[in-house]
Amino acid sequence: MSATLMKGKPLAERIRAEVAEEVRVLGHVGLVTVLVGDDPASDVYIRLKHKAAVEAGFAATDLRLPADTSEADLLAKLDELNASDDVDAILVQLPLPKHIDEARIIRAVTPSKDVDGFHPLNAGELYLGRPAIVSATPRGVMALLAEHNIELDGAHAVVIGRSAIVGKPVMHLLQQANATVTLCHSHTRDLAQYTLEADILVAAVGVPALVSADMVKDRSVVVDVGMNRTEAGLVGDVDPGALDRAAYMTPVPGGVGPMTIACLLQNAVKCARYRRGELAYPG
Ligand code: GUN
Repeated sequence: MSATLMKGKPLAERIRAEVAEEVRVLGHVGLVTVLVGDDPASDVYIRLKHKAAVEAGFAATDLRLPADTSEADLLAKLDELNASDDVDAILVQLPLPKHIDEARIIRAVTPSKDVDGFHPLNAGELYLGRPAIVSATPRGVMALLAEHNIELDGAHAVVIGRSAIVGKPVMHLLQQANATVTLCHSHTRDLAQYTLEADILVAAVGVPALVSADMVKDRSVVVDVGMNRTEAGLVGDVDPGALDRAAYMTPVPGGVGPMTIACLLQNAVKCARYRRGELAYPG
């Protein structure tokens, strides 16, 4: 039996239509994406984000800065965007060039305009169980699980990957939804021992087909956050052979990817509501 595919596109389209309606009612909602340098993968992501923002009616600015932009100049630009009444939400695409201190840049974005939810205040509120702005990919994962009525309460969820962008935030969200969460990473001994116990498996490591079909528990729910460019094309962290074992599984591409952009736009609307005082930040 083959797993039910948890497709991101239909749900993402619905969310984007809802966001477009919210933006229409709000009027001007300013979203600025910032890309420093010309990393090809980042260029693709920024284009997709910008296009989606324009389609949803945002006043979207695709700000490109040269690779040799100094940290001081980037900080000065962020000060300007933080202070601007035309700007509701700011996204600085990562990774930044090596000569720029990423942590310092993340801290420099006003928390209520931090559409990625990467600022320590937003990350901290999530850690404390009071989510304010939560990064888009983890929210996309949770939205897909909710859409398919996956029972999280009491389930054993295994997350592979401990990044600040996906692994750690999704761990908190799953735990806050009353799952029992095991966080695995590159130093985990005998990964299969954990994955075979996972009612819900979230793979977010960036290693093509790290999780083989025989590592997946029968009738489990598999969320593949991996987007790995290989000679064979775009592949996930989970071998597609796992479709024969899982009850539900996200496709790659077309699973979590579209959800990230939809949830990012939702976050931008939230930023706009903070700036207008319709919502209290952090709440
Ligand atoms: N680089 C990889 N993923 C992301 C993301 O979600 N946001 C930003 N800003 N940069 C990224």
